[in-house]
Order: sequence, then C-alpha cells, then structure tokens
Amino acid sequence: RYPIEILRLRFRGSTAEVNEFIKLECEEEYHGVYGQQSLLQCNVKAVENVTILTVTWKRVEADPLLLEFHKDTSNLTPGFKFAEPSWNKDNMNVSLLLTKTKMADKGVYECMVTTDRGDDTATTSLSVTAKYITPTMSSIPETNIKENTDVTIFCNSTGGQQTGLIWWFDQDGYNWTHRAELVAKETDDGLFSLSSKFTVQKATSSYTNYTCKVLNSNGAEEGVASFVIQLAPQVSGTCCHGIQKLFDVSPVVVIGSLVIGLLAALLIFKRRSLRTSSHLQLRPGQDKLHME
Ligand SMILES: *[C@@H]1O[C@H](CO)[C@@H](O)[C@H](O)[C@H]1NC(C)=O
Ligand SMILES: *[C@@H]1O[C@H](CO)[C@@H](O)[C@H](O)[C@H]1NC(C)=O
Ligand SMILES: *[C@@H]1O[C@H](CO)[C@@H](O)[C@H](O)[C@H]1NC(C)=O
Ligand SMILES: *[C@@H]1O[C@H](CO)[C@@H](O)[C@H](O)[C@H]1NC(C)=O
Ligand SMILES: *[C@@H]1O[C@H](CO)[C@@H](O)[C@H](O)[C@H]1NC(C)=O
Repeated sequence: RYPIEILRLRFRGSTAEVNEFIKLECEEEYHGVYGQQSLLQCNVKAVENVTILTVTWKRVEADPLLLEFHKDTSNLTPGFKFAEPSWNKDNMNVSLLLTKTKMADKGVYECMVTTDRGDDTATTSLSVTAKYITPTMSSIPETNIKENTDVTIFCNSTGGQQTGLIWWFDQDGYNWTHRAELVAKETDDGLFSLSSKFTVQKATSSYTNYTCKVLNSNGAEEGVASFVIQLAPQVSGTCCHGIQKLFDVSPVVVIGSLVIGLLAALLIFKRRSLRTSSHLQLRPGQDKLHME
C-alpha cells in the first residue's frame, strides 16, 4: 500500500505516473443518428479493486458539465445519463448515454474519472447523421371516394439531412413519379421535410394501392409506405361476376321480386291447408269411432 500512497503524493497534479494504476479507455468515435440514443462507451481499467470518487462528462468545446458524479450524488443535464441503469461507484463502466441525439450534439466529448487509486481523462467523438423517417400518407378526399373521380395522395417525411426524393409506384410497379409534385422545406433543426403530391385521375377499384419511396440525396432508400384509396362501397355498375351481379339491380326489381315471392309462398300455403282440411272431412266416421 505505501508505495502507491507515496506515488500519489509525489505526483499529485501530474497524473502521468498515477495513470499506471488506473486507465480510462474510451472508444475513439461514434456515429449517432438524429432522434435516437447514442452510447459513448468509457470503462475504467484498474489493476486493483478501486472505488470511483468523481466522474464528469463534458463537451471539449463547451463548459457546462453534461454529467457529474461527486460526493455520492449525480447531477445530470436532461438528455444525458449514465448508460448503466443503476450505476454506482463500484461500477467501472462510466459510459454516457444520450437519450435523444440532436444534430447539435456532434463533437468531442471528454470524460474525467477520479478514484481512490488515481485519475484519468479520455475523449471520444460523436458524429450525427439524420435519416428520413417512414413516410406518412393521406388523401384528399379521405374516404367514400366515388369511382372515376380524381384523388390526390400525399406522401410526407421529415428528418433528412439534405433534400431527398420521393418516387411513386402503383401495385403493378409502374413508376408514376413523373406525374408527382415534390416540395422540400428546411425545418428548425437544419433538417428537411418532404411532401409529394400525386393525383390519381379517375380512380378505379382495380388500382387502389399506391406506394411511395423516400430516397436521400445519395439516392439510397430511407423509407417506404403504401396507401390504399378508400373508394365508396359500390352501388351500381362496373363489377360483373357471380353473386355480386345478382344484387347489382335496381331496388324496384328487388322489392318486386320479393313481393312476388311472398305471394307465391302464400298461395302454396293456402293450397296445402285446403288439401289437409278436405282430407279430414273425408273421414268423419273415424272421428266418431274415436270419440265413442
Ligand atoms: C472490490 O471491493 C468492494 C468493496 O470492498 C467489494 O465489494 C468487491 O467485491 C470487490 N471486487 C473485487 C473484484 O474484488
Ligand atoms: C457499459 O454499459 C452499457 C450500457 O449498459 C453496455 O451497453 C456496454 O456493453 C457496457 N460496456 C462494457 C465494456 O461492459
Ligand atoms: C402531407 O403534407 C400535405 C401538405 O403539407 C398536407 O396537406 C397533408 O395533410 C400531409 N399528410 C400527412 C399524412 O401528414
Ligand atoms: C421513377 O421515375 C423517376 C422520374 O421519372 C426516375 O428518376 C426514377 O429513376 C424512376 N425509378 C425507377 C425505380 O424506375
Ligand atoms: C400495397 O402494395 C404494397 C407493395 O406492393 C404491399 O406491400 C402492400 O401489402 C399492399 N397493401 C394492401 C393493403 O394490399
């Protein structure tokens, strides 16, 4: 024990020698994604069992501490925490977790650890890229659309780092992109939103499913979605097979045939009851016999 204490006293202020007893090891770089978690891994390597006294995490180019463990308490900036869910001073994994990465989070991070056996500092860098999210689709009108009318479908996505593209396809894979209109806008975070508008002329029940694909500025696909045009239930006209055709007639005919059917049923019923009563009347003697 003595040599270590002496070393610590002698080299206080110059951490170089003390570093031989503990070492803080961080991964060199990380590639984070906008809106997702980023884990910056740092671990304390020690030749002996050590207890951590303080941990600080900060950006090299900015002063405020993002995370500080000092005198058994942790101070955290919202959005930053220990990656280990129930971190304590015996846990050598001092990794930092960014719960929702922002574009502005990119940069070099510095972690400093002091233990009862020495101190060390290490850095790691984070780059942040952004991707378009899975597009959302909608139409005007929304529902109950009549056949052979025009329907405008929208395909929207946000979060891209540069302006991207939106391609349109029908259910047969036919490329309708040349007929669509794309609007790209820059959003608050320096990211982009895309909205593409495609009008289906004379929508028919045989083509209701349309797909849009979002591509980034490099032409790589970042999201895809499909949309089914909500046509009104059919009352007349175009469909022509089997049972459907049976019901595909005007209400007058339907009610008319119902009435005729009812009348026919009544007639049959009446005839049957006539037959039964005459049958009974033919055998009066039997009845009498029974009664005696
Ligand atoms: C390190 O020391 C602590 C406290 O004395 C003890 O609980 C722990 O089991 C030790 N760990 C190892 C790996 O020796
Ligand atoms: C440190 O903790 C994080 C979060 O629990 C975990 O993902 C990572 O694998 C740990 N690193 C090591 C070296 O154990
Ligand atoms: C897509 O954007 C257009 C134009 O901004 C808007 O009218 C439409 O409601 C949006 N659709 C969805 C599903 O967000
Ligand atoms: C779809 O059409 C667009 C515009 O006409 C074209 O740039 C794109 O390459 C086509 N995509 C496919 C997969 O054919
Ligand atoms: C629409 O088409 C896409 C791509 O062809 C397919 O993945 C999807 O299941 C279809 N949706 C419906 C409701 O049929």
